Amino acid sequence: KKVVLAYSGGLDTSIILKWLQTEYGCEVVTFTADLGQGEELDPARKKAELLGIKPSNIFIEDVREEFVRDFVFPMFRANALYEGQYLLGTSIARPLISKRLVEIAAETGADAVAHGATGKGNDQVRFELSAYALNPDIKVIAPWRLWDLTSRTKLLEFAEANQIPIARDKRGEAPFSVDANLLHTSSEGRVLENPAEEAPDYVLQRITRPEDAPDQPEMVEITFEKGDAVAIDGRAMSPATILTRLNELGGKHGVGILDLVENRFVGMKSRGLYETPGGTILLEAHRGIEQITLDSGSGHLKDSIMPRYAEFIYNGFWFSPERRMLQALIDASQEHVSGTVRVKLYKGSARTVARWSEQSLYSEAHVTFEEDAGAYDQKDAQGFIQLNALRLKLLAARDRRLKR
Ligand code: ARG
Ligand code: SIN
Repeated sequence: KKVVLAYSGGLDTSIILKWLQTEYGCEVVTFTADLGQGEELDPARKKAELLGIKPSNIFIEDVREEFVRDFVFPMFRANALYEGQYLLGTSIARPLISKRLVEIAAETGADAVAHGATGKGNDQVRFELSAYALNPDIKVIAPWRLWDLTSRTKLLEFAEANQIPIARDKRGEAPFSVDANLLHTSSEGRVLENPAEEAPDYVLQRITRPEDAPDQPEMVEITFEKGDAVAIDGRAMSPATILTRLNELGGKHGVGILDLVENRFVGMKSRGLYETPGGTILLEAHRGIEQITLDSGSGHLKDSIMPRYAEFIYNGFWFSPERRMLQALIDASQEHVSGTVRVKLYKGSARTVARWSEQSLYSEAHVTFEEDAGAYDQKDAQGFIQLNALRLKLLAARDRRLKR
């Protein structure tokens, strides 16, 4: 039996690694992805070796460009938000990890994949739906649903008994569960579990408190081509470089903090603290460029399907026909979404202040309050309003008749 484990190098997945070896009797292959979580990956290799994984079974890969180009950017073309607010930073990373797990399983002759998500959350669903969609025969091992290490205490005892190093929290009170990548950092658990209590400042991992952000605003110009960001301040950059740069700017100016109680797919509510500095700027800027390059028919149609698209991603259906169908619609809408947006960053806010494009539909000649030199005949509006009002007048007349 051979299994590919999504291995972060942290305590939980190290325990899972050991547990798969000892209690499950598996040969373990580890996969550690650099998704831009901002952690050194060398320790993960060392730890895996320490736990007896042979070098040829250790896979460590930088997938940042693929993550942003093939997952984050397509999602941002939709302006996707779950329940109106969540930018889906964890949700969008899971399908990529699963894809690599399944591919590495094929390469190494493993018949199973394993992950460290609990039986209570969304991540288990995302990992597994993605894996099954890509290989219907793959087996999935989810130790959190199988073992009897049901408490933090039992987990620590198992770690100690198996000589797994336990890193003590520096701040002592850090949240129980943190997930980070280039798009966001999420924190859940412990001090955050009571939604009536404000999250303490120390929960913030990558964004300056808006109160402490610079007193001077800063401008950033983002250039889009067919809905994707391609340059910052006139300099062309790769997708991951763009997001990295926007993260620096957003982090510095306190942009992108969200405190949210959301509905998990499995039915319960959970409270999370999300930090999405670059993504928040990118969403604002993308909306800014769509304002001048999309007509109302296209824009309103894609907006109307956005909540469903976001829900598909949240619920783990990235690799599904319904997500792909909506993606095709969204991508088709982006044909002319090219141009540049200037965003002003200041103490927690990211606000579009200017936008321009060669493909703009904005017509000053039509909209001007000044002389319009015959571009638009105001008399046309009369019949337009009369016909739209016809139905409303008939309704009002009936109501008046019935009231008498
Ligand atoms: N609640 C968010 C989501 O479902 C974040 C999940 C964070 N996952 C984690 N393993 N810490 O997308
Ligand atoms: C987990 O349960 O492992 C994290 C939270 C989630 O997946 O929703």
